[in-house]
Amino acid sequence: MDIKEFFRSRFNVDPAAVAQAPGRLEFIGNHVDYNKGLVMGVAIDKHISVAVSLRDDDEIRMASAGLNAEGAVSLGNVSLQSGAQSFMNYPLGVFAMLREAGLKAERGFNLADASTVPTGAGVSSSAAIELATAYALCKIYDFPLSKIDIVRTGRKAENVFVGMPCGILDQGVSGFGEKDAIVRIDCKTEEFSALPIPAGTVFWVFNSMVKHALVAGDYAKRHASCMAAAETLGKYDPKIRCLADATLSAAEACRSKLSEEDFKRAVHVINENARVVEMEHALAVGDLAAVGDLLKASHASSRDWFENSCPEIDFLVEELSAQPNVYGARLSGGGFGGIAIALASEAFSEAQAEKVADAFEAKFGKRPKYFQTKIGEGAGLVA
Ligand code: GLA
Repeated sequence: MDIKEFFRSRFNVDPAAVAQAPGRLEFIGNHVDYNKGLVMGVAIDKHISVAVSLRDDDEIRMASAGLNAEGAVSLGNVSLQSGAQSFMNYPLGVFAMLREAGLKAERGFNLADASTVPTGAGVSSSAAIELATAYALCKIYDFPLSKIDIVRTGRKAENVFVGMPCGILDQGVSGFGEKDAIVRIDCKTEEFSALPIPAGTVFWVFNSMVKHALVAGDYAKRHASCMAAAETLGKYDPKIRCLADATLSAAEACRSKLSEEDFKRAVHVINENARVVEMEHALAVGDLAAVGDLLKASHASSRDWFENSCPEIDFLVEELSAQPNVYGARLSGGGFGGIAIALASEAFSEAQAEKVADAFEAKFGKRPKYFQTKIGEGAGLVA
């Protein structure tokens, strides 16, 4: 679907700006971002494109090619939509946060989106639409923001407008993605760096086809557990302001003051944060066996300590890890369904992917979608 053509077909004018933003894979650092630790991710070669133009009235009109939906609200009524108009919420949230940051809008806008990012699959189509929207709206309202501010606006739209207490991983990777690079984020300082992906490796993505209906609720519950654990640990040692500051011995010392659940969540975050540091070393020296082991260990920790995996994802990770040419596999993203990723050598074949899909289908009675992805550029204006 050509975004400009789609835009014209819906609004009878040419777009004044077009922006594009990629989906992402979480490489390692599961649920570490909002605990202010270290995370790594990569931008995939699938994008959401957003085209916009100013209107002469005070309407906001949107059309989504992928979701086959249309909707409208007025400038005076920018609030969370439900039902058929709920597809508007991410762009509306971005617009609301831009206004909060000082953008003055006397006229409304038209917005159309088209996407190659699968929705609800765990590759963060939401961050992609947020970032593309932010770039496009900043252009037409002449409200220039730096990349980091665009990223923060996307996250704020999610936290404040949509009500999802996510960290900065998804928007950060979609914004700071670089070709053939892993984006490393220090979520405490919000510093970004790029590490080359190991030579000769490729990413494969398997969709478990499990879309947990309560994903937002489960995510928020994990978030609340982490915040509660950090608070308790902070009373024991005031230097601990977030779980990324904590050590296992501090968690052990506080064990009797923590619920069993909160203790387990804290142990995962503390160990996972340490694994990201180890991953950086393994990548720097090109030790692919160690990289693979860290991916597998990350998965085991999410499964056993953070308890955000599910049988379908565990199965995919086991099957993938057992395949020749695979260094390691793990769940990627929020969890409770979504995707498993594998870091494989270029020798990993379509026939092997089919074999994994066959085994999955034999067990669960449905076929997982899968794809190999290149690691692409981050978000930006394209016209
Ligand atoms: C989702 C959130 C991210 C991050 C991951 C888990 O993708 O949006 O902020 O917390 O889950 O690491």
